[in-house]
Amino acid sequence: MARHRVLTGITTTGTPHLGNYVGAIRPAIESSKQDDVDAYLFLADYHALIKSQDPNLVAQSSREIAATWLALGLDPNQTHFYRQSDIPEITELSWILTCSAAKGLMNRAHAYKAAVQGNEEAGEDPDYAITMGLFSYPILMAADILIFNAHDVPVGRDQIQHVEMARDIAARFNHHYGETFVLPKAVVDDDVAVLQGLDGRKMSKSYGNTIPLFGTPKKLQKAINKIKTNLLEPGEPKDPDTSAVFQIWCAFVDDADRQEMRAAFEAGLAWGEAKKRLFERVNDEIAPARDEYDRLMANPGEVETILREGAERVRPESIALLDKVRRAVGLRPFTVVG
Ligand code: TRP
Repeated sequence: MARHRVLTGITTTGTPHLGNYVGAIRPAIESSKQDDVDAYLFLADYHALIKSQDPNLVAQSSREIAATWLALGLDPNQTHFYRQSDIPEITELSWILTCSAAKGLMNRAHAYKAAVQGNEEAGEDPDYAITMGLFSYPILMAADILIFNAHDVPVGRDQIQHVEMARDIAARFNHHYGETFVLPKAVVDDDVAVLQGLDGRKMSKSYGNTIPLFGTPKKLQKAINKIKTNLLEPGEPKDPDTSAVFQIWCAFVDDADRQEMRAAFEAGLAWGEAKKRLFERVNDEIAPARDEYDRLMANPGEVETILREGAERVRPESIALLDKVRRAVGLRPFTVVG
């Protein structure tokens, strides 16, 4: 039986933070190591253009994200690791799908609807600052997935709708033009922690409450020291279940250490001491990768080569699928009859 094909993309905006690490990077690298999985992982740099029109930021973020995944143990010989913009068949397919995807489907996309609603609330024109990129984004995402006939697409909850749209778009195409695409499905891992940020809300670049993954140990310590706590003094019992310090701790330790920290909180552990323990634990886990990250960031040519080779290895497949799609829709050599 063909191995299970799992595909996911990472939008290349922003610098990776602990929330990305715990919620996406660490589980994806673990699952890519399973023998029965054929993993496709790519830098969604065309998606980055939807979010940022700052060329240096887009370029820098792509470099950082590629180095991060490699430093944390992604094996490019075991996982197909490539850059979206190195696969021109994706954008070609995206146009072809655009021509059969329903506009009404796009109207229902959460990200687009939220942007329109934001404008309406601000008394702006509903289309204010909304690009066609933002509107059509689910079609590009469908092309990412369908071009490699992925079965499973591991994503966060916010992306489920997009994967379902990819499935709809594929089904519609298959119905009209004949069996062409595998129908993908979203896979959401409920065991993976959604990390809290410095202010206790979900750790997210858009809230400005993140703890950067790499950088010097001092920077990590400083960020951890900024996690919001209450005014309880050392010796006063603290509630672990409402503490971001405890929640982040849990993402880095085993069950026994979770229980122990819970007891320590209840026995009045000082916030300073809890943060010190948290820093040490997080730092122990990421320190080896940090050195490799610094090395890769200093050797961009090495990362460039890995990505190009990754693209070269998968392109025979994307070329073959696009060829099939072109013929299916009627873009055929004139010598082909019927
Ligand atoms: N849109 C996804 C996000 O913002 C990233 C992404 C782009 C993706 N293409 C994809 C995820 C294809 C899964 C499959 O998180």
